[in-house]
Parts: sequence; C-alpha cells; structure tokens
Amino acid sequence: MIGRDLLGIERLERAEIERILDTAEHMREIGTREVKKVPTLRGRTIVNLFFESSTRTRASFEIAGKRLSADVINFSPSTSSLKKAESILDTARTLDAMDPDAVVVRHAEAGVPQRIADVLAAPVINAGDGAHEHPTQALLDLLTVRQEKGCIDGLTVTIVGDILHSRVARSNIYAFRKLGAEVRIAAPPPMIPCAIEALGVKAYTSLREALEGADVVMALRIQNERLAGAYFPSTREYSATFGIDRAKLRFAKDDAIVMHPGPVNRGVELAHDLADHRPGVILDQVRNGVAIRMAVLYLFAGRQPAEAAR
Ligand code: CP
Repeated sequence: MIGRDLLGIERLERAEIERILDTAEHMREIGTREVKKVPTLRGRTIVNLFFESSTRTRASFEIAGKRLSADVINFSPSTSSLKKAESILDTARTLDAMDPDAVVVRHAEAGVPQRIADVLAAPVINAGDGAHEHPTQALLDLLTVRQEKGCIDGLTVTIVGDILHSRVARSNIYAFRKLGAEVRIAAPPPMIPCAIEALGVKAYTSLREALEGADVVMALRIQNERLAGAYFPSTREYSATFGIDRAKLRFAKDDAIVMHPGPVNRGVELAHDLADHRPGVILDQVRNGVAIRMAVLYLFAGRQPAEAAR
C-alpha cells in the first residue's frame, strides 16, 4: 500500500482492510507503553490539511504520526494564504513542493481529497470529504466491533439517523459489507438516500424493525451544518422516534453494543448514559482511532522494504 492514496473504503479489497486492522492491533500496544513512541517513521513528514473543523480525526492523526516519530505539520487554513485567495490546489501543490511523505485532507466538499491527490506526488489520506467517505472512521469502527465481537462476518449492524448527509454511514456500509456483515439503515424517509439499497443494505423507516436482532447499533450525528431544509418535524420528535436509548435498545440483541462517531448531540440521537456507559463504546472508538491512523500512516506513508533496510 506504500505510496498509494487512501480515498475511500469503496476501493479497498477485503484483504487490505484486514491488513490495516491487524496492523492497528499491533499499534494499539504501543499506546499502552510508558514511552509511547517508536522510530518507525523517523525522518518522514506528515501534513494535516484540515479545511473543515475536527477534534477526533485531526488530533488522532497528529498523535499517530508523533507516536511513530514522524514530523507532523498542522496546516491552519485560517492563517494561510488561502486568505489571500490562493486556491486549494495551489495550496496543496505548494505544500507538496516541500516533500511531505503523506498529506491528510479533510474538506466539507465531496471529492476534494481526490482532486488534491490528482496533483500531488505524496499519498493523500482522506480524513472525511463532504457526504462522500470517511475511511479511517470506518476502519476504527471495524476494529472496535472486531474487539467486542471477535469477528465481523455474520453480524447484523444497524446504522440509525442522518444517512443522507453521512460520510461515516457510506464508509461503514462499504466496510461492514466487505467483511461479511448484514447492514441495515434506519432513518426518517427524507434522510434515506435514493437507491441506497444498491449498496447491499436494507432500509427501514421503523426503528424497531431495524433493531430486531442487531449486534451493533450505530447512531449518527444529526448534521445541522449540512441540513438545508426540514428533514423531520422537530428535534424532540426525532429523538422520540430515532434517538437511541435503553428502552429502544431492548429490541436489539441482549449483548448489542452502541456506537457513535462523535461529536454526539446528547439527548438527540443518543441518550446521555449511552454516550458515557456500556453498552456504549464511544471512547473505545476514539482510542482505536489512534491505532488505526498509526496503521494507515505506516502502511501508506512508510518506507519501501528496501529503503527501510538501509
Ligand atoms: N468522527 C469524527 O470525524 O470526528 P471529528 O469531526 O471530531 O474529527
């Protein structure tokens, strides 16, 4: 995978996904040591190019790079020459001329990481683009479920909420399907994208039916910044119908886990206690985010075996 872009789960093979997960298992151990640092990427440079706000993804890419001894540069759009009308592609070309070994890109518009990858020599890692994909989120979700359930094959995963605007939903649909899970989605009708069932999922407007027999319940954030119109009558009604709480969770399997990519609108898509306590695993997802991003930087931005041997 060295030197390749990671733009989405759609383009990954099952074996590649499993290799990333297996590598992340090793990386997680590094985070438990007293000195959380290995020299694996010493002398490599990672540029974080975040044009959209982020807490988890940006911080964990930075921590991941530093744990591997890479030099990590966090580019800040608000203090850059973007403010002098320099284009995004010229900004990317400028940074590429400084010879980074990987560029991590987040943007509110779908397709920007691909456009940047088209003009860059360095591999581009998509850290979330519009409603398109968020591949490292899906990988950390797979890792969390694999830890909890032992394997992905044969599980039933129910994704609940704003599917229409969710890059997390799209990447997770590809990811869990490729690893052999049944994926269901549940949402108010306007939040179910046309032809979503072509991705191999079953769509439900009844949360109860969608949850029956589920091993994994994944609540999605209501993406207020992407809602251009009214998709449900009120936040209160959404919460009553599609918000995940312990009462609704009774329809899922007894040992079902509850996930959320964050940030959580507490009391809207997820009850407060599930955000903090089991079967909620939200902070485990965050913890696994560092291990997954270490694995991705190692596998996509590491040295070729001959180079590493020198
Ligand atoms: N899940 C996720 O992408 O969170 P951030 O927006 O905080 O990075």
